[in-house]
Amino acid sequence: MANKRLITSALPYVNNEPHLGNIIGCVLSADTFARYCRLNGFETLYVCGNDEYGTATETKAHEEGVTPKEICDKYHKIHTDIYAHFNISFDAFGRTATPEHTVTVQEIFNAANTNGYFIEQDSEQYFSVSLDKFLADRLINGTCPRCGYEDARGDQCDSCGALLNPQELINPRCSIDGSIPELRSTRHLYLDLPKISEKLEAFQENIYVKGNWPNNAITTTRSWMKRGLEPRAITRDLKWGVPVPLKGFEGKVFYVWFDAPIGYISITRRAFPDTWEYWWKAPESTDLYQFMAKDNIPFHSVIFPASQLATGENWTMVHHLSSTEYLNYEDTKFSKSRNTGVFGTHVIDSGIDVDLWRFYLLAVRPERHDTAFSWQDFFDRVNNEFLDNIGNLVNRSLVYCSKNFDGKLVPIEYTDAQKAFIEEVTPMIAEVTAAFERVSLRDALKNILAVGKVGNRFFQDQEPWVRIKENRDEVQGTVNILAHLVKNIAIMLEPFMPETSKRIYKMLNIESPDWKQIESFDNLLGSTIGKPEILFRKLDVKLVDQYRAKYDGSEKSDPWDKIEIKVGKILDISRHPSAEHLYVEKIDLGEGEPRTIVSGLVKYFEAEELKDKMVMVASNLAPVELSGIESNGMVLCASKKKKMEIVSTDDMAIGSVVYREGEEPSENPEKISIDDFKQASLRAKNGLVVCDEVPLFADGKPLKTEVVLNSKIS
Ligand code: 2FM
Ligand code: ZN
Repeated sequence: MANKRLITSALPYVNNEPHLGNIIGCVLSADTFARYCRLNGFETLYVCGNDEYGTATETKAHEEGVTPKEICDKYHKIHTDIYAHFNISFDAFGRTATPEHTVTVQEIFNAANTNGYFIEQDSEQYFSVSLDKFLADRLINGTCPRCGYEDARGDQCDSCGALLNPQELINPRCSIDGSIPELRSTRHLYLDLPKISEKLEAFQENIYVKGNWPNNAITTTRSWMKRGLEPRAITRDLKWGVPVPLKGFEGKVFYVWFDAPIGYISITRRAFPDTWEYWWKAPESTDLYQFMAKDNIPFHSVIFPASQLATGENWTMVHHLSSTEYLNYEDTKFSKSRNTGVFGTHVIDSGIDVDLWRFYLLAVRPERHDTAFSWQDFFDRVNNEFLDNIGNLVNRSLVYCSKNFDGKLVPIEYTDAQKAFIEEVTPMIAEVTAAFERVSLRDALKNILAVGKVGNRFFQDQEPWVRIKENRDEVQGTVNILAHLVKNIAIMLEPFMPETSKRIYKMLNIESPDWKQIESFDNLLGSTIGKPEILFRKLDVKLVDQYRAKYDGSEKSDPWDKIEIKVGKILDISRHPSAEHLYVEKIDLGEGEPRTIVSGLVKYFEAEELKDKMVMVASNLAPVELSGIESNGMVLCASKKKKMEIVSTDDMAIGSVVYREGEEPSENPEKISIDDFKQASLRAKNGLVVCDEVPLFADGKPLKTEVVLNSKIS
């Protein structure tokens, strides 16, 4: 067994707020293990950080009208605050958009490339002329070839579930600006996995056993290998990423598959510029433990080790891979867009002590099967399994010792019954260490609770309150054992509930003890304990319904409330100087200055048809740049098949704000994304424009279409 333990948790994508499932799936599990390793004397380094590159960040930045870097900064802070609240003991929590990352990724690429592990291959991909870039599969919308659903994505149809590739979509459109993309040929680099396959498989089969991998990791990896590895594309046509340092690949970056796992190395390198190789280039003395949810298994069991092997260098490679199943929320899945589930900031706001969150999440850690977070279960387990058991044992033992023995642990010969108890509990304690070594955190916690349970039973069986009148020395022995048991439990619990353990140490009057002491029943003899206090009040189960209702998505805001539509008039219209399918319009929205709006309507209308036309404009969209011209809104259209109609009117006052029949005009200065707008799902229905079946009005008259009577509005 190596003495150094290098621990990682999967780098969370920067632009999502982590929910409880993400938190238990990686950072909290890795933290618990890292804390155990440090306590047990292993030289330990725990690194993690945000995965910042890729389409998702680029798209979000585009929507919010800021740079990708600004998006990353904003979300990196959100992640940092949440993990700090959870008391995650990173030695480094970094990010991937750093110069160290670029250097490290490029170095690894160059080494593997020198060894001939990359293949170049051309493929056809959709390109947006207006945005001047290739579009990721999920940024293409169109009609599903299987079921006819009009809003299928290039990677999948949300209606029939079919997995698609974007070339199959009928009437493909770009989901960012609605323009029609064109197919263009592009060249990419593929990691030659077949070439490394034999070496990789030998490494895997050996490490499964040596590193004691969980079943799901072995099964997933073996099935990848069995299907036969194919060359895997590791570059993308994107700007936000690590540039490919190769002639002919200018303007291309590495894909997450290749660059994210290298983030572990580059984050260590940035935080510890002088010693990073002491960890990453030292396989003989370092065991690498990697924590993740099951969807990340192939990253760590195939792609990352393959990339490392391809360099021919002496890397520290995965030893144990800890891959959890999923944590569900109540009887559904976590979903930010549906507002379902508990996310990191909710935990901060909950007012419930974070050690109780940690306790519960680790108790239901999905090690073998998917499990679920449930408020009722959370409150029940905290109250019944932790407080009634451990809380009770700590309190009654220490209070009894204080009241009857002035807190003194005077050495005394143990009775046979007391010795028998020590013999009973010692192997149970050893089992906790064994479970930690297997990285079965849930078993470790379960065993600690079992120790608490027999401790309570011991208290009961010894009947100190009766025996004290007859044999005070015997009861001193009971008290000595209980105080030591409380200490042993506190140490074992520290990786799970660090602050709680510290409070118990204080009550026992001891400084941070280490793991070596967990089986000792005499190292505190001769000392005097401190002042006992109650660990936690019980959670109020009457509040369960309230909490549940708060996060079940029912308070979801109405997407209509976010959007704003105004009546406008096209004062001027001309062709876009560089993008041939776009018009640039000056539209009067009654705001004094007319707005500049860019729309992809060249294909459908002559400029003369549109000049002086009254239009409906989505007026609070965040500005977007389309081929170099900033567009400040969107002209609403109804479209079906090849027909396109502008939602229009002749006699409404310019600048009137649209409202749903019977409601106030929906005025919203706050800027929103096109996705927010789409959430409101406006439609033409028999020639009337509706939102949630309610007709839209402006200036006392309904919004209408005359040709395309039934369709989506966008
Ligand atoms: O799937 C993900 O969450 C990505 N951010 C990659 C995580 S694994 C990586 F860090 F190696
Ligand atoms: Zn479909």
